[in-house]
Amino acid sequence: MKVLVTGGAGFIGSHLVEGLLARGHDVHIIDSLTTSVRTNLAHHESNPRLRVTIDSVLNEPLMDAAVSEADLVYHLAAAVGVKWVLEHPLKSLQTNLRGTDLVLTAADKHRKPVRVASTSEVYGKNDSGPLREDDDRIMGSSQLSRWFYAIAKSADEALAAAYWQERNLPTIAVRFFNTIGPRQTGRYGMVVPRFIGQALRNEPITVYGDGQQTRCFTYVGDVVKSVIALTETDAAWGDVYNVGRNSEISITALAQRVIELTNSTSEIVYIPYSEAYSGGFEDMRRRVPDVSKLRATIGYAPDTTLDDALRQIIAVYPTSTAPVS
Ligand SMILES: NC(=O)c1ccc[n+]([C@@H]2O[C@H](COP(=O)([O-])OP(=O)(O)OC[C@H]3O[C@@H](n4cnc5c(N)ncnc54)[C@H](O)[C@@H]3O)[C@@H](O)[C@H]2O)c1
Repeated sequence: MKVLVTGGAGFIGSHLVEGLLARGHDVHIIDSLTTSVRTNLAHHESNPRLRVTIDSVLNEPLMDAAVSEADLVYHLAAAVGVKWVLEHPLKSLQTNLRGTDLVLTAADKHRKPVRVASTSEVYGKNDSGPLREDDDRIMGSSQLSRWFYAIAKSADEALAAAYWQERNLPTIAVRFFNTIGPRQTGRYGMVVPRFIGQALRNEPITVYGDGQQTRCFTYVGDVVKSVIALTETDAAWGDVYNVGRNSEISITALAQRVIELTNSTSEIVYIPYSEAYSGGFEDMRRRVPDVSKLRATIGYAPDTTLDDALRQIIAVYPTSTAPVS
């Protein structure tokens, strides 16, 4: 098949592209390299089945032509990372709202199936758990840029659902929980590469808040396997899926695991959110997925342990990861 992957030079995108090429598909990437580097694709640049276009998903004629040539579309291009979104609120909204709108408009015109990347951030301040796909979302103020990413991704999901319901266009929205692996950069606020870089340099590990907030980290290889399996399952169309692992760890405990696995002399230092980010930043105490729907649909859910994932990242850091600024 001919597969279009927007954001295909990014962290998750580049692993997805690898998986698609390995399955024999022709892959066309459209990526602006806003938060990624071309070297993410280094292993596949010479593959004749890979085509890379460095441009924006906001380029309407380009998207129309690229979607028309594809058999299916993975839409991953987005403004990503707490830090990046807080620093570029308008551009983030434009990319994450208009970009998805343009992809879905072209997909509807040319009748092409689309998977839209969403996020656990759509649950907002709902930190009960484990979170099911149909649980309520609790959003902060629409005036706070901290919530712009979640607001845009929620709208993207709704748009994908509406195209399915009203136009019978095959769409799936996948809500990624914290995904980790080689090639993820710590530049834009991602915690694992930031901690690993600090630990390998024996610098203090900076934990934001009191460190008792918990997250579930999922290895990117498991995420890609799940997303491709969802694509190949007819029953998945028109729906939304949590994609993650439901094993919880506090951020302090994560820092301790990183210190141990890197044999680092780093100490843990706590920084208030008000110092780490601009005023009004709110964080969730807990973020745990219920993955029973994913498991029922594709027969499994991500299972690589956190330690195994961390070891794989440490083994290739920093050669495959852009430096932490
Ligand atoms: N990594 C995670 O834990 C996580 C969690 C939830 C959701 N997601 C979602 O997964 C997708 C991939 O995220 P990622 O973690 O790989 O981040 P990433 O920053 O590595 O990937 C995003 C890609 O989109 C590209 N991009 C940004 N604006 C663009 C534009 N206007 N036109 C074309 N390309 C553009 C970037 O250059 C980058 O390559 C995103 O949609 C993100 O919202 C990721």
